[in-house]
Formats: sequence, structure tokens, C-alpha cells
Amino acid sequence: MAQETEKINAEVIAVYPDKIKIVVDSLEDFRIAGEALQVGSYLKISDNENAILMAIIENFSIIVNEAGKRDYAIEALPLGMIRGGKFIRGGDSLAIPPKKVEPATEEEIKKIYDQYIDPKEKFTFASLSSNPNIRISVNGNKFFNKHVAIVGSTGSGKSHTLSTIIQKAIAEKNGSFSINNSHIIVFDIHSEYKSAFPTANFIDIKNLVLPYWLLNSEELEEFFLDTEANDHNQKFIFKEAIVADRKKHFKGVETNKNKIHYDSPLYFDINYVLEYAKEKNTEVIGTGEEYVSGAKKGQEKTTQGSLYGKLTNFVNRLENKINDNRLDFLLGQKSKDITFEETLNQLVGYQTDKQSNVTVIDLSGVPFEVLSITVSLISRMVFEYGYFYKRLRNAKDPNEKINNDIPILLVYEEAHKYVPNSDLVKYRSSKKSIERIAKEGRKYGVTLLLASQRPSEISETIFSQCNNFIAMRLTNPVDQGYVKKLLPDTLGTLVDKMPSLKQGEALLVGESIILPSIVQIDRCANEPSSNDIPYWELWKEEWKNMNIEEIKNEWYS
Ligand SMILES: Nc1ncnc2c1ncn2[C@@H]1O[C@H](COP(=O)(O)OP(=O)(O)OP(=O)(O)O)[C@@H](O)[C@H]1O
Ligand SMILES: [Mg+2]
Repeated sequence: MAQETEKINAEVIAVYPDKIKIVVDSLEDFRIAGEALQVGSYLKISDNENAILMAIIENFSIIVNEAGKRDYAIEALPLGMIRGGKFIRGGDSLAIPPKKVEPATEEEIKKIYDQYIDPKEKFTFASLSSNPNIRISVNGNKFFNKHVAIVGSTGSGKSHTLSTIIQKAIAEKNGSFSINNSHIIVFDIHSEYKSAFPTANFIDIKNLVLPYWLLNSEELEEFFLDTEANDHNQKFIFKEAIVADRKKHFKGVETNKNKIHYDSPLYFDINYVLEYAKEKNTEVIGTGEEYVSGAKKGQEKTTQGSLYGKLTNFVNRLENKINDNRLDFLLGQKSKDITFEETLNQLVGYQTDKQSNVTVIDLSGVPFEVLSITVSLISRMVFEYGYFYKRLRNAKDPNEKINNDIPILLVYEEAHKYVPNSDLVKYRSSKKSIERIAKEGRKYGVTLLLASQRPSEISETIFSQCNNFIAMRLTNPVDQGYVKKLLPDTLGTLVDKMPSLKQGEALLVGESIILPSIVQIDRCANEPSSNDIPYWELWKEEWKNMNIEEIKNEWYS
């Protein structure tokens, strides 16, 4: 009886799988005291069977009824049901007709986000955008175990978000020790991240040492050969010289020498390859006959070797590379001296003098023509580390459940530059290596975090493997459309908010979060150096001197 006498203020007038329509006669009476009711607010709809449907307001409109009175129509997106105190995604099991609709309280919303994740798996780096009091956690295991994509237009806050996530990941500790077991490698193309991770292992062109001899055959050919020319002679000589020199330098068991091949990660001297090519290019062979008359009488007749003069381009190309000091990090003496172990140690933060959770690899000085093979080599080494480490662990203990107890996160800023939706040769190596990690890395404890302002330009193979999305403000319609396609269709109009998100706001979707949510990412502690430049203030200051000489020194160093 009480129900009939209670003044009905709000009523559900339609229930669709993806939409709930509600009419409210007075918004003042409907909202919870002290809390604003807005697009994005949460509603609680109950039925007669003690189930509660949570929905999020998508839009408001005013309808004037026959009596000339104004009512409010609200359309809401069903998010999931609370039944017996548990939250279940999806809204289709609400008994019809629904009994009651009211705004959800802060406590109720908190409970949904909280309850789903075991406290020891909780990883928190954002708050609900419509209510900063509500902290939003993701399941840290599911978040880092599956690849993550951060997309957004320039200035939307991707670099800051990435910094926040990494800073929090390296700070959390399950005990009292000085450094946790997180391992993150950041490919930093714009020199932004040194300031965000002051304790990082910082590598740039001045101290990066990569051994060219660890490149695989495809990378070697991309680097040293004119692949467009598709010259078989070049290829043959190159391969022959490399394999021969690897065998020469090999110090292991004699019987293993025959197993050495073009892709073996073993030392060879690039100068030997050059000498060998030069030799073949100028080779003359004795015919076994002698001159019988003339000035050369008695000397053996010679004929040009089969490759005589045919390798000139190759020799020149090789010489140019070896003498190019911009490529010293790959071809210099240090690259010849460094061992496999030292190379891997430097990349994963196990240098002898310091351990670091984060390794920032500043790629800004790496010449463009070798960017792809540089990124490829590093990515591939990390992937193979995971692969062989798993094999080792399983060999030691066949019952081993955890494939890798030192899992690694690889972070690619401006990912479209390494893994584009393009088959151009210059991207081939990095694309292949990163796609392999996208497909198989998870099993070996190697995960990707990709940030990009041009999601539509990223390889689809990569994106379709991402399970967690942080979609920030995205204004380009092509990119919007592309991202929408990748997100679950149950998102309703939440995705339409993408172009209007504020700086640091994001649509957080994926396996690691109970509900797709619009969140405000926490500010990072140390900022990347990607802050907006205060043009107007700077321009209004007094004329500043420009030290061209200092700039030149930096340029030439
Ligand atoms: N969580 C946040 N809250 C408030 N402001 C933020 C937040 N994150 C970033 N910002 C602001 O937004 C601006 C741009 O951020 P950021 O450099 O991270 O953008 P971006 O998406 O990486 O841009 P680009 O694609 O050009 O690299 C910064 O000046 C920063 O102060
Ligand atoms: Mg950025």
C-alpha cells in the first residue's frame, strides 16, 4: 500500500538492451541533495526481485505534457546488474517492469568499482571524472598482462598518463625493500622522459651501444644492402663473409661450429665483410696459360673474377656506413667489444653499477634510416629474453606455472612511427618485431604499451591485440571512427564523448576494469618535458639572446 501512496517522481518508461528511458517530473526532487545530476551521473534501477541495474545518464531533454507541465526525459546506458551484492556486467536480466529509479549514491558507485578487484590486484591511477571522490582501480594483473593502448590527439595528455602509470607501477611495493621488481623500457622519440623518471637508466645516442652483429639476417640486409636493387651477388657475398667470419671467431665446441648460420647471434667483424667484398670486386684469376710473346711473356694469363666490378656499389655503401660516425653506436669499436650479456643488461636495467625499474631509451639522436632496425633489435632481444627464460624455467621445473617472474613492459611513444599500417621497407623490421610481441609476448612476460595520436595509422595486427584502452580526447574523425570500431559496441554514447574530453580525461575500457568509465587520470609526480609552451607569456617578455654557438656545439657533438 505504501507504494501507491508514495509520490512517483521518476518512472522507467522503456527498457531496451542498450538504453533505458526515464521520465522525471521534478529534477529537484530526483537528485540527491548536494550532488549534481549531469550527463555521466549514475542511476540505480531496481526491480521486484532485489536486483539493481546500474545505468549512466547519456542525455536529458524536456517534454511538455498535455497539461502544459514540463517533464524531464532521461536516456541512460545500462552498465550492469547488482544481484546478491555482486556486480555483473550487462543489463538484460532486469525483471520487467522496473520498480524504482533513483540516482546512485557515492557509496554505491564506490562499491561497484571496489568489490570487483581483489585488494592485492588493485592498481589505481585515476578518479571518476564526474566525481573525483570516487577512485577508479583497474586489475593490475590484467592491465599489465594484456597490451595497453593510449590514444588521443596532440595535447590530450598521453605522455602524462604514461608517466603517471609508470611512476605508480615502480612505486608500489609488497614489502619493505628499496626497489620493486617492475621492469619497463620506454622508447622515447622526443627526449621527453628523462625528467619524468629521474632515477631511470638513461640511454641516448651518446651512451647507447648496440652490436650490429646481433641483427638478424633481415635487419642486416635492410641496413647494409640496397634492398631495392635486389642484387643476388651482393646478398651472396654478404652472407658468405658473415658466416665465414662468425665461424672464424667462434670459441665454443668445435662440433657446434657447423651449426653457425646467417642469423646466429654471434660476433663477426664488419670490416672483414668489407675487405672480402673489395677482394671479390677486384679479383683476377689465373687461367693456367702463359703469355708466349710480348712484354708479359712467361707470365700467367689472368681473367676477371666472376664478380669483378659488380660489387662497387655495395663496397661504397658499406664503406660509407662504417665511416659514418652517426652510426658509431651500432658499428663502432664499442659495438664490437660489447658482449651479448652486457647488451641485454644495459637494456633491462641490470647494469653493474645500478639497478633501475625504468630504462629510457632516447631515440632522438638515432638517424632516421636506422631507427627501425634499432627499435627492432632492442624489441626482439627483450622478446627473446622472455622466450628463452621461459624455456629455462620449464627445463628446471616442468611444473612451473609462472613462465616469467621478471616480466617486462615495453613502452612505445608515437607507436605509428614504428608499427605503421604500411608495408614500406623502412618500417619492416620494427613492425615485424613488435607485431610478434603483440601476438605472442603475453605468454613470455613481455607486454606492450603503445601511445599514439594517429591510431588509424597503426598496424591493425597490433591494435586488435590490445585489451586495455585509454582513449583520450580524439578530434580527427578518421581516428575516432577507427577507435570506435575497436571498442565494444555496448559502450553506447560513451565513445561519442571522445572529441570533448578535457586534458587528462580518458575513456578507460578493457578487461582490467569492471565498467567502461570516463576518468580523470592522476597528475604525474615528475612531469615529462612535453608541457605546453606558454607562448604568449614568453613572447611578452624582453627580447632574449639566442646562443647559436652553443646550439651548434650540441648539434655537432
Ligand atoms: N591528468 C591530467 N590532468 C590535467 N592536465 C593534464 C593531465 N595530463 C596532461 N595534462 C596537461 O595536458 C598537456 C598535454 O599533455 P601531454 O603532453 O601528456 O599530451 P600528449 O597527448 O602526450 O601530446 P602529444 O601527442 O603532442 O605528445 C600538458 O600541458 C599537461 O599539463
Ligand atoms: Mg606526448
